[in-house]
Amino acid sequence: MSDTSKLLADRRVLVTGSARGLGLAFATAIAEAGATVAMADILRDVLDDSVAALQARGLQVCGFPLDMADPASIESCATAAIARLGGLDGLVNNAAITNSGGRSSQQLEIDMWDMVMQVNVRGTWLMTNACLPALRASGNGAIVNLASDTPLWGATNLLAYVASKGAVIGMTRSLAREEGPNNITVNAIAPGLTKVEATEYVPAQRYQHYQDGRALQRLQVPDDVTGAVLFALSGLSRFITGQVLAVNGGFVMN
Ligand SMILES: NC(=O)c1ccc[n+]([C@@H]2O[C@H](COP(=O)([O-])OP(=O)(O)OC[C@H]3O[C@@H](n4cnc5c(N)ncnc54)[C@H](O)[C@@H]3O)[C@@H](O)[C@H]2O)c1
Repeated sequence: MSDTSKLLADRRVLVTGSARGLGLAFATAIAEAGATVAMADILRDVLDDSVAALQARGLQVCGFPLDMADPASIESCATAAIARLGGLDGLVNNAAITNSGGRSSQQLEIDMWDMVMQVNVRGTWLMTNACLPALRASGNGAIVNLASDTPLWGATNLLAYVASKGAVIGMTRSLAREEGPNNITVNAIAPGLTKVEATEYVPAQRYQHYQDGRALQRLQVPDDVTGAVLFALSGLSRFITGQVLAVNGGFVMN
């Protein structure tokens, strides 16, 4: 990647779901771009290891426990992170669960549907609310919501997840208007199928479907997505808000 080492100098950013996968790639790239990063996740041990590894590299990161299904946990995580960072300029709503993969609409259980909505939609809403006062105080706050390209092309056998990410896109647009007067930008990044621990279960056929449909016909990896997140948090994008940026090698084109 090109040199971004000063792009986010002095910015204070919270990244949810950053123990592993895309969230860890974002936290790493954001810290490498000069920001101080609060990393939060439900996987305590994995989070501790990831934070320690980044701190050993001299990056300014700290870790906080978080359960996005629990409103009290969201509140205490945001409060602790904002106190530690001394304010907040950026929030990356990355934590999410998929859980509904590989089954048709009629095969989904109500409890599973509710859990996906609780974490991905209600959790994103509540975490955003918990961070809004600090983001307003920043004067140039930025919220980056991790959506997915699945609602953009109508991915099958993943309905609860697809519905939740469609909701994230809707929230992104409404919040952009609500928080525009406070100079907070709100944008969504919609990655295509990206190779991480969480997507190892995805059948080879689905990977091939993505690869064949891309303009850039290769596997998507976390580093393909980090640039879009850095851009959305940076001073380069202060007049861009309410947008959905598909980062998927041209699989879907808005
Ligand atoms: N990998 C892909 O193909 C892909 C494609 C499009 C969008 N996304 C989105 O990117 C984001 C990261 O996904 P990923 O692929 O790295 O998967 P992942 O499962 O590795 O990452 C999600 C992170 O959120 C954490 N998390 C889950 N439930 C939580 C909870 N209740 N409270 C706090 N943290 C919780 C997990 O522990 C994990 O660290 C998600 O929003 C996902 O929907 C991923």
